[in-house]
Amino acid sequence: MVPLQSFNPYLAIILLLFHLLHFSSIEAQNDGFTVKLIRKSSHLSSNNIQDIVQAPINAYIGQYLMELYIGTPPIKISGTVDTGSDLIWVQCVPCLGCYNQINPMFDPLKSSTYTNISCDSPLCYKPYIGECSPEKRCDYTYGYADSSLTKGVLAQETVTLTSNTGKPISLQGILFGCGHNNTGNFNDHEMGLIGLGGGPTSLVSQIGPLFGGKKFSQCLVPFLTDITISSQMSFGKGSEVLGEGVVTTPLVQREQDMTSYYVTLLGISVEDTYLPMNSTIEKGNMLVDSGTPPNILPQQLYDRVYVEVKNKVPLEPITDDPSLGPQLCYRTQTNLKGPTLTYHFEGANLLLTPIQTFIPPTPETKGVFCLAITNCANSDPGIYGNFAQTNYLIGFDLDRQIVSFKPTDCTKQ
Ligand SMILES: *[C@@H]1O[C@H](CO)[C@@H](O)[C@H](O)[C@H]1NC(C)=O
Ligand SMILES: *[C@@H]1O[C@H](CO)[C@@H](O)[C@H](O)[C@H]1NC(C)=O
Ligand SMILES: *[C@@H]1O[C@H](CO)[C@@H](O)[C@H](O)[C@H]1NC(C)=O
Repeated sequence: MVPLQSFNPYLAIILLLFHLLHFSSIEAQNDGFTVKLIRKSSHLSSNNIQDIVQAPINAYIGQYLMELYIGTPPIKISGTVDTGSDLIWVQCVPCLGCYNQINPMFDPLKSSTYTNISCDSPLCYKPYIGECSPEKRCDYTYGYADSSLTKGVLAQETVTLTSNTGKPISLQGILFGCGHNNTGNFNDHEMGLIGLGGGPTSLVSQIGPLFGGKKFSQCLVPFLTDITISSQMSFGKGSEVLGEGVVTTPLVQREQDMTSYYVTLLGISVEDTYLPMNSTIEKGNMLVDSGTPPNILPQQLYDRVYVEVKNKVPLEPITDDPSLGPQLCYRTQTNLKGPTLTYHFEGANLLLTPIQTFIPPTPETKGVFCLAITNCANSDPGIYGNFAQTNYLIGFDLDRQIVSFKPTDCTKQ
């Protein structure tokens, strides 16, 4: 998702895609990948640096959920992974306004390691704070471009992740938002959101330096993968994306925006037809956002991609279903065989097969495939969303300012 400070909403479009993705047949099963935890903080020592810090992620209705533990005793939290924002937050009791969630909400009073931050403290991160309350609480407000909003208290907690060898890794004093009033576009499996952007409050910025660098990698399983199948997100040393087939594109700094991962898109090929971005290619014209499902392209490029995809698919697009809106959709009982799209980023060509380009049918949308691309104003940056990121191992290296991609079957990662 994109925080409000950056630019404007795509709510309608995203809701449309959600409409297509909604299906009720998936069971909530979180016990398939339980990790063992010790009940006290293990001491972090830099000599076991060969361990890679990890957290499992899985797919649920267009979002990707990361599992980590917060508090003492540790409570399991499933939070949406979001490279487009920075704040880590969870729904907390007492709840002044919360969306429905299937698991109990986090109760700070039941954790011995929860600490409120004073408004006077340098830890009270001022960009999220309004007036200091009379009680000197560090009350935050954090909004997203789709008008979702979380409000609560900035606090510190112990967060527990796991090493690749299965050891729990407890990290004390992680800054997070205890959200007491949260509204918007969240599903009942999302207990909060894990900000993974480039700003100082994100998970990678907070823990990366403890583990050999501000970097992480992710491998998102395809959209409709069963929720019990997870892949691992890795942090710090050992998370680098290496080996055959790796391509790399530079991150671009834009204005004062420390959060977003901007990259430069030169053009898109539909099969072998190359469609360039508009002549004056602006550096950093797309951002890589795991919290947004579709790809969002500037209108001019979107229009050309739309026409070219339509030319290449030997089927009639659906025109008699208003609920699909302006999306390009097809009805077919067999999988779409093409076309393949290649995104030409500076230094990195990414080939996407139809399963990374078309939202497949759900039990409710029977046989309907829709192009997972929508449009934004020509002057806005586009978004490389989570759908197109699936089945790539993607490494974000903030120290080297690069993003690396390697085609990978994420269900086996
Ligand atoms: C919760 O936040 C909403 C949106 O900002 C606000 O309108 C509402 O008054 C808040 N509720 C409480 C109980 O603070
Ligand atoms: C944190 O602040 C809230 C609100 O002022 C208060 O109710 C709660 O007891 C505090 N928690 C701790 C652990 O100090
Ligand atoms: C590029 O953008 C300019 C200004 O928006 C427009 O006039 C021009 O037609 C565009 N060129 C192409 C090839 O789309």
